[in-house]
Formats: sequence, structure tokens, C-alpha cells
Amino acid sequence: MTRVFSGVKPTGHLTLGNYLGAMRRWVEVDQHQADALFCIVDLHALTVEHDPARVRRLSRQAATLLLAAGLDPERCTVFVQSHVDEHARLSYLLECVATDGEMRRMIQYKEKAARERARGGSVRLSLLTYPVLMAADILAYGTDEVPVGDDQTQHVELARDLAVRFNQRYGHTFVVPRATPPQVAARVMNLQDPTSKMGKSDDSGPGIVYVLDEPDVVRRKVMRAVTDSGREVVYDRDGRPGVANLLEILAACTGGNPSGLSGVYESYGALKKDTAEAVVEVLRPVQERHRELCADPGYVEGVLRDGAERARAMARPTVDAAYRAIGLLPAA
Ligand code: TYM
Repeated sequence: MTRVFSGVKPTGHLTLGNYLGAMRRWVEVDQHQADALFCIVDLHALTVEHDPARVRRLSRQAATLLLAAGLDPERCTVFVQSHVDEHARLSYLLECVATDGEMRRMIQYKEKAARERARGGSVRLSLLTYPVLMAADILAYGTDEVPVGDDQTQHVELARDLAVRFNQRYGHTFVVPRATPPQVAARVMNLQDPTSKMGKSDDSGPGIVYVLDEPDVVRRKVMRAVTDSGREVVYDRDGRPGVANLLEILAACTGGNPSGLSGVYESYGALKKDTAEAVVEVLRPVQERHRELCADPGYVEGVLRDGAERARAMARPTVDAAYRAIGLLPAA
């Protein structure tokens, strides 16, 4: 059976981008068709300045939301990265296979490091090595497919490169994974700046729809989305990024395709109204279930405890094999 692994980083409240680009497919497709693991990757949240209490709170919230979105612990494994030591163990071995040049070329590293420096802060070493830890997340489980949005495909490519390199040098140890981005909504853009990604760690509140936003807040944000100077509602990502983004969101929420919706609308206002309602309807059941689960924190804790146990048992043999292959003396 195909092994699927994916994760979400608790650095902010989950967004419509996380939901349409990744989580919804995990729920609707991956957990039914594959042996799937979904991870709250909390170690990754420590790569930029962070508040410990907030990371803990956001980790619990992300776990609750994944279950609210419909991940079923009977069908898949949901767990927290730091509960399974194998990720950090394997990450170090992969650091011995990766090069610093490779790390410095990562787009997200360049962007985030520049942002930290512009704020007058320093760049944590873990921000540079982040993609290696991500490769360890993926390779520890013999993963075939990694369902992620567009922004993560370069990191998955690195995981592939490291798997191939390790296998060539030390003998076959890792499955070589591949990214599987969605056909629609692989990159949901910020509603106030449709040339940049809707990211949960960004500060621009009005441009970001959060999964837990109240319906009226969603409506207000979508109705105020920046569109373009033209009038026609056509799907043109480069020429009309604002309108294209709304068409993508609407298509992703209603199961259509964005070019198919070109020409259906006579005005931006009508497009925005339908998009807002479609988003409200997609988020409604998730929010309802989230409210129920918040009243039962013991359930979420239990799921994470079982998930970590299952994940550990899956990762340990591969990571132990990597330790042996690379030349470390087994403990007697
Ligand atoms: P993160 O937490 O930024 O995002 C989680 C998932 O949501 C997708 N995504 C989007 N998709 C479409 N449009 C958007 N605006 C948007 N924003 C986010 C991301 O592509 C991702 O699939 N490094 C990863 C977490 C990670 C991981 C892993 C993922 C760590 N280890 C191993 C897969 C496998 C990250 O920061 O995702």
C-alpha cells in the first residue's frame, strides 16, 4: 500500500491555504487510499523566534483542527513530531549527507532569513537545516507520496536527492518520495496581495482567511479582496492575479475548475459574493466539529498518544537501518 506522509507547522492559526492546499486532500483522499501519517511538526516551529506557550497552544489547536477536518484515527496516524525521537535522530545523519550550499539555495530559507535580518534579528542555524529535518520526517517512514502545496515541492525534491545520495553511498535504505501537489489551489494567495502566498505566519490579517474565522469575518475579507483594474472575470494568473486567486478558491471549494468559471461572472462583486459563501460553507462543518472536540480535550490527547506510539514503531526500523548503514557501531 502506498505510504503517505505530510505535516503542518504550528507557527500560526491554520489558513484556508493550508486547508485547500493540503488538509482537505488528506481527509478526502489520502486517508482512504493510503497508509497515511499526518504530523504536527512542532520542532519546525522553533526555527524562528517563538513563544513556548504559543507553540504548545498552536500544536494542540492544529491537532484538534486536523481531526475536526475529518482525519479519522482509525484510518490514519495523527501525531506530534517531538513525541517521536526518530525524526531528530535521522535528521543528524542526513545532515552528514547534505551540503551547506544545497541548504543556502532553498527559497524559503532565503526569504525567511532575509525577513529575520530585516527585523534586526539573527538567523537560527535550525532555519538553515530545516529542510533536512523535513527530509527526515519523510524518509523515516518509507514515504512514497507527500501531499503538499506548491511552496513545499522544493523541500520534497531535497528529500528525494538525499534519499538517492544516501542509498548510493551506503546501500539501499530509503524509499525515494515524490511530492503530490493538488490540481487546484496548490498556492492560495493573500487576498490583499495576490502576488504573495497566503501564509499563516504572515502579519497581514485582512488578506488571510483562517479556518476558524467566523462566517462574517470570512465574508468581509473576501468582499474586500484586492482585484485588478480590468472588469472582465477571466482566469489569468499572471495578468489578473487577484481575480485568478478568487476563481481558484471558488473552484477548489465547489469542485470545479478555475478556467471553467471564466466568463460565468459579469462582475467582480458577484464573483466575490459566491466565493465568500463557498468558503463559509466549506469551513462550517470543520468549525462545528472543532467546537465539539474542544469540549473533549482528553480525546485529542488520546489520539496523539496512540499516534506517537504507532509512528515510533513505523520509523524505528528504518532509522536503525540508516544508523547501521552509515557506519555507526550498534549498541551491544
Ligand atoms: P506549512 O505548515 O507551512 O503548511 C502545511 C501545508 O499547507 C500547504 N499550504 C498551502 N497550500 C496552498 N496555498 C497556500 N497558501 C498554502 N500555505 C500552506 C503547504 O504546502 C503544506 O502542504 N515545511 C512544511 C511542514 C512539514 C512537512 C514535513 C510537510 C514539515 N515536515 C514533511 C510534508 C512532509 C510547512 O511548513 O508546511
